[in-house]
Amino acid sequence: MEKKRIEKEYNKKINELKKFNKAYFNDDNPVVSDKYYDNVKLEILNLEKKYKYLNNKNSPSKKVGYQPSNKFKKIKHLKPMLSLSNSFKQEDMKDFLSKISNFLNNKNLVIELSSEPKIDGISASLIYEQGLLIKGISRGDGIIGEDILQNLMTIKDIPKKIYGKNVPKVIEIRGEVYIGKKDFETIKDNFANPRNAAGGSLRQKDPRETAKIPLKYFAYGFGVINPMIFKTQSEFINKIKQWGFITNPHNKVVKNLQEIESQHKLIEEVRSTLDYDIDGLVFKVNNLDLQTRLGNTSNSPRWATAYKFSSEKAITKIEDIVIQVGRTGAITPVAKVLPVTVGGVVVSNATLHNEDEINRKDIRIGDTITIQRAGDVIPQVVSVDKSKRDKTSIKYIFPITCLCGSKTKKEISTSTKKEDAVRRCTKGYECSFTAREKLKHIVSKEAFNIDGLGKKVIDQFWDIKIIKIPSDIFKLDYNKIKNLEGWADISIKNLKEAINKSSTITLNRFIYSIGIRHIGQENAKILSSFFRSVSNFSSLFTQNKREKILNDLVQLDGIGDTQIKSIDSFFSNYRNIEVVKSLIDVLEIKNYKNSNKKGQFSNKNLMFTGGFEKISRSEAKSLTEDNGGKVLGTISKKLDLLVVGDSKPTKKKIEKAKELKIKIINEKDWYKLLNI
Ligand code: IVH
Repeated sequence: MEKKRIEKEYNKKINELKKFNKAYFNDDNPVVSDKYYDNVKLEILNLEKKYKYLNNKNSPSKKVGYQPSNKFKKIKHLKPMLSLSNSFKQEDMKDFLSKISNFLNNKNLVIELSSEPKIDGISASLIYEQGLLIKGISRGDGIIGEDILQNLMTIKDIPKKIYGKNVPKVIEIRGEVYIGKKDFETIKDNFANPRNAAGGSLRQKDPRETAKIPLKYFAYGFGVINPMIFKTQSEFINKIKQWGFITNPHNKVVKNLQEIESQHKLIEEVRSTLDYDIDGLVFKVNNLDLQTRLGNTSNSPRWATAYKFSSEKAITKIEDIVIQVGRTGAITPVAKVLPVTVGGVVVSNATLHNEDEINRKDIRIGDTITIQRAGDVIPQVVSVDKSKRDKTSIKYIFPITCLCGSKTKKEISTSTKKEDAVRRCTKGYECSFTAREKLKHIVSKEAFNIDGLGKKVIDQFWDIKIIKIPSDIFKLDYNKIKNLEGWADISIKNLKEAINKSSTITLNRFIYSIGIRHIGQENAKILSSFFRSVSNFSSLFTQNKREKILNDLVQLDGIGDTQIKSIDSFFSNYRNIEVVKSLIDVLEIKNYKNSNKKGQFSNKNLMFTGGFEKISRSEAKSLTEDNGGKVLGTISKKLDLLVVGDSKPTKKKIEKAKELKIKIINEKDWYKLLNI
């Protein structure tokens, strides 16, 4: 009896530890402090020492030690580490190429691309000064990463000193840390997949622990290089290979859609024979001058894309269909399926998108279905095997009310004028289901980015009602957390610090965070440059002021009817205003600062009409912004300069500009202003 009790207690502790490991390594969302974690580990080891019969493959005694920590020093990247846009089919790659030639305004240009396997690992940046490795930084949120130099130093593939001629004074190498598939086999009990294993090992507080894991490194890119000595990506890759970095042997330069396709096919065929996981190919414009001209959108470069391999599929059965409410109130049907492994991950939910999709595919509860999973995207239901359907299958009646009980609506799209396929709850913060999702958005990386406060913690705090609206985050009663599972003094202290830090925020991040539908990061930036301060932004709260502002917003390039309608409807809801107001009260919101004050067009409003000979409208816009200016969509007194291109300029605009005595110049003069 006693033996049974001890075994039970022992296994309970092991399960607890497993949960902490999952939260830390898989969800990147630690739920306990280092101290608490260590205590549980110690208790397990003591029990094993005392009672020799205790044995569990998940015991820490059988594993390399790891320890959650958020003690790494934070370092700002010299240049942001961006993500990549995704392409899934030939059509997407065709689009990618035509967008590039449109942007560069040159249809006949042969665009060479560097094709590289996309390694599924953890990215890390290495900074060398005078050839010496002096910094090693994790990606973090792309802007700020963690100082993991000591851990990176343990990786054999990473040169600690670059020997060779012409090594630039400063060079930042970027690449992927990974674990070989064979090596993973030896340590796999601890982790869900090689990627998690690489991430977990890299974030060890003690580099001696990292050293025990056979980590490897592929170098594929650069951040800062000073002085710049390369003209192409392939030249860069060849040179760093000579310097001793490991580059991928399957890198290749291609120059048209056909070659892209055949390279994609070829690598997909050899994929399973490689000793590391790849989930597609990265295609990068080879010429570095063209890369600079193409520049970036807010998250990803225009000069690169990840062409993913086709997704993994599996067959399973629908046990139930439920609905989920998203942060914009979207009602999404989700199939609860018999758990099945798809590409190494156990899947028990698959999205059904919307009501129309269920009807079109005639999907019923009890059906045998094929699901697919690609990358981080939520698994989807691809098809139904109707031959396997029996009488017990149940047709799903799509609810017309939200989980909160209020009526849902299908909106009319401003662009297509057709009814949306998605039903929405329009209650905003009044709907507790929408509100909870909005909170998860608020704490996300691109928004407030609060360390240690992820989706899981929002759920935990929501359940005990200590966070209901965003401002609650900044007024947390930490006494109520103390006794919660997974919280201890250290983790509470860290959380306090992280929340405190996040309470100072830029205006654009703030606008993005409040979760107005159709207002993404780019739109939020445009709006913040328009409003400039949170007090101006607050004018949207009053109806008559709002109408006037919304009229003015039309002139902003990038803000259309869809956005204006959405801002209007967001602030027409009184509860939304209340929630936003209370959030403003607890924050310090920094005024918009034009980061290019010294630019040629600083604080100037420009407008273009007519096509240019040398560059596209998009490039003209990005050049204007890079030089501190803003591009307007309509003519008003606020305009400082109208630039007229030779190809089909709008006469009316020129006339109106003359009437308002606005300076008008042509394409050539505009280049002169920019010294290009
Ligand atoms: S280039 C600005 N090249 O994929 C783009 N990334 O989704 C910089 N990755 O964070 C990335 N192999 O961790 C690039 N050959 C490769 C890559 C690669 C893997 C990862 C990298 C990046 C992510 C983007």
